[in-house]
Amino acid sequence: MPILDIVKYPDPRLREPTVEVPELTDEVRSLVQDLKDTMFAADGAGIAAIQVGRFERIFLIDGRVATGSEEADAMVFINPEVVETSAATVRSEEGCLSFPGVFVEVQRPRRAKLRAMDLEGNMFEAEGEGLFARAMMHEFDHLTGQLLVDMVGMVKKEVIRRRMKKWHESNPDPTV
Ligand code: NI
Repeated sequence: MPILDIVKYPDPRLREPTVEVPELTDEVRSLVQDLKDTMFAADGAGIAAIQVGRFERIFLIDGRVATGSEEADAMVFINPEVVETSAATVRSEEGCLSFPGVFVEVQRPRRAKLRAMDLEGNMFEAEGEGLFARAMMHEFDHLTGQLLVDMVGMVKKEVIRRRMKKWHESNPDPTV
């Protein structure tokens, strides 16, 4: 169960189109397990497959964020769709594993309802508010190539670009 390398901005893989998961194979199950290990190791509230360079439409949300319970397992969303979002929005600070050290104020719906398939192949609906809604919408954005840097004005965008350039300079990655 390896911990995978997280793809960091501005790696173009974060903008690639994602693909539906046609069936639950052992490969999909093993990807989900690796995503779970990688998310916990990186202490993320969520992770999308595209952040480890895989293009399946899959994301996970930390169980504590999803349920508020310390013991809850990560919630797995396969081929998710947004069913409904509230008109009411909340502005709050958000981070992303693909932008280490970057935090951005993002306006999001207060509540969100998503439909997805779980690891047993069952469809389920997840309805959340606050941080859970925010995390689901953030991870869903990854499936459409939408990133934190797209949600800010020009000045902040430049700050993020510079910050990530510095990050890459001090974390040279021989695999890229
Ligand atoms: Ni993210």
